[in-house]
Amino acid sequence: MPYVVAEPCIKCRFTDCVDVCPVDCFRAGETMLVIDPEECIDCSACVEECPVNAIYADSDLPDRWSEYAELNAVFSRQWPLISESQAPLPTAEAFRDVKEKRHLLTGARDEALGS
Ligand code: SF4
Ligand code: F3S
Repeated sequence: MPYVVAEPCIKCRFTDCVDVCPVDCFRAGETMLVIDPEECIDCSACVEECPVNAIYADSDLPDRWSEYAELNAVFSRQWPLISESQAPLPTAEAFRDVKEKRHLLTGARDEALGS
């Protein structure tokens, strides 16, 4: 039951989640982070840290974001490790309440997922 970063992270990427993770699960894309499901030990520490409530146990993912379990698994094998928090993206405040951000997700291999 790994944890999953879902759509609210896109264009925000606050990275508060990174500092509390005991096992370096997070991988950084241009517009969001993902969690490596092979590394996550299900401690749930990151959930409370996210200012936009982007992180869920995979079993609790809202239906509209169900694809993010696969997106996290795929991108975590392609994106680099991030082990310390960074400044949020410049777009973070403008996008924190924006719904429907899936089309703004970018990644070198995003095309492989048909988007
Ligand atoms: Fe890291 Fe725990 Fe969050 Fe998994 S649930 S990503 S181990 S902080
Ligand atoms: Fe994203 Fe929230 Fe972490 S916005 S980078 S999941 S703190």
